[in-house]
Amino acid sequence: MRVEIRDIRKYFGSVKANDGITLTLEEGHIYGVLGENGAGKSTLMKILSGYQPPDSGEILLNGQPHTFDSPLSALKNGVGMLYQDPHDIPPFSIVDNFLLGRDKRLRLNYRAAESELKELSSKYGFALDIQAHVDSLSLGERQQLELVRLLAGGAEVLILDEPTTGISAEQKDVLFNSMRKLAREEGKILLLVSHKLEEVQELCDHAFILRRGKYVGEMEIPCPNEKLVEMMFGQVPPRSERPTFELGDPMLELRDVNISTYRLSVKNLNLSVRAGEIFGLAGLEGSGQRLLIQACAGLVRPESGQIILDGQDITSWSYHKTRAVNVAYVAAGRLEEGLVASLSLTEHVVLAQRETDFFVDWAASGQDAQSRIEHYQIVGRPDSTAEELSGGNQQRLLFGLLWNKLKLILLEHPTRGLDVRSTNYIWNLLYQRRQDGTAIIFISPDLDEIIERSDRIAVFSGGVMSRIVDAKTTSVKEIGHMIGGQL
Ligand SMILES: Nc1ncnc2c1ncn2[C@@H]1O[C@H](COP(=O)(O)OP(=O)(O)OP(=O)(O)O)[C@@H](O)[C@H]1O
Ligand SMILES: [Mg+2]
Repeated sequence: MRVEIRDIRKYFGSVKANDGITLTLEEGHIYGVLGENGAGKSTLMKILSGYQPPDSGEILLNGQPHTFDSPLSALKNGVGMLYQDPHDIPPFSIVDNFLLGRDKRLRLNYRAAESELKELSSKYGFALDIQAHVDSLSLGERQQLELVRLLAGGAEVLILDEPTTGISAEQKDVLFNSMRKLAREEGKILLLVSHKLEEVQELCDHAFILRRGKYVGEMEIPCPNEKLVEMMFGQVPPRSERPTFELGDPMLELRDVNISTYRLSVKNLNLSVRAGEIFGLAGLEGSGQRLLIQACAGLVRPESGQIILDGQDITSWSYHKTRAVNVAYVAAGRLEEGLVASLSLTEHVVLAQRETDFFVDWAASGQDAQSRIEHYQIVGRPDSTAEELSGGNQQRLLFGLLWNKLKLILLEHPTRGLDVRSTNYIWNLLYQRRQDGTAIIFISPDLDEIIERSDRIAVFSGGVMSRIVDAKTTSVKEIGHMIGGQL
């Protein structure tokens, strides 16, 4: 298989998402696709996989021009894409999902499908329980299912758009091993879109760099990170230094808090976070750290214990009430929980207003949206919808909707999907917040981020919170051991 992407253009109004991109892909290679937020990576990958048509340009497979009018027609021609948010149907069984898009006659042959699914998943080291339903799977397992579905559907070219956000370290290793196997042993072409340069260096043998919708160059991998960063941004962005800061009085206290849900319970949470402090929470997804944050935000009720904010008991308050005393919660699921996909930026500004009149002043709200766009450097317009923004710009919008005076900010994966420059930008905003005495608690799967950005850290494992460690004196290794259960 050989893929030629020739002079692809895709404009959205005045935005040139892809502005004449030409690339050639040869079999047996793993390619990295790099570029800052909004560079046009996802747009190009969606065109290559038949999710959306280009305005102009051609895709040639083995020298033959092809037009795909749907992801299914792309897959029939050997191109499959793993989207960042799985495109499966949760209430269906695993086998039903596996058969999605397959030939109707085959669909009836459940037995054959089951054994094909088993065979493929063991071949690539996936441990899928084929009796399960998709809604009981972790994100990493849903990805594995989607991968075997694409492979069984005949994919020779596999595109993975930021596949490692939200999966565990073990699942990442399994995924990367399967990708290596697919390229080296089966001659498939793999494309990895990622902001994590370490991952690209570890896995890929070649990388393409896009900037503002244009191809800027390509590199053999491994190569120095600085070289890649320079091509992505035009220059190496300055590192954001973490300013030292005098912490204030306790802002948030948890006293013997117990929370239990049908999945997990956490017991005896005791914690005191000071004004201006940044507190990092590490742990595998589903270990209890999210429950702590949601209890503080008024989204889950503790069974017992007390949550004290700036001297006031807010235990079991509703989300609405905690908001009113200046607690903000920024959820991990940008488009599922944080934003409304089809609403414009102006509409988001209106929704985020805390005092609402009966009438909405649209003109003023539009201006408000415009000033937030400028202040938070969002690439978009007041009438752009949230889903039209690139991943990184959606994240900026979430921060742009926070109000001015805040006592506590609760964050999940604050820099998920952000490029280096946007990551620094978001942390600089948060550092500024500390000057006003805001306490910050955040969850991140990125241990380097936890150690670099926090004052103190706690680790969750199986619903148990560890002792609290000082970020200055701990290491990735120590936190890693704690995540593994050595609390
Ligand atoms: N459906 C759409 N309607 C309008 N504009 C769009 C649409 N899809 C993408 N864009 C715009 O095209 C540009 C490129 O977006 P794209 O999603 O391809 O970027 P990206 O490189 O994947 O960025 P990120 O790293 O943030 O995911 C952005 O400015 C985005 O706002
Ligand atoms: Mg993208």
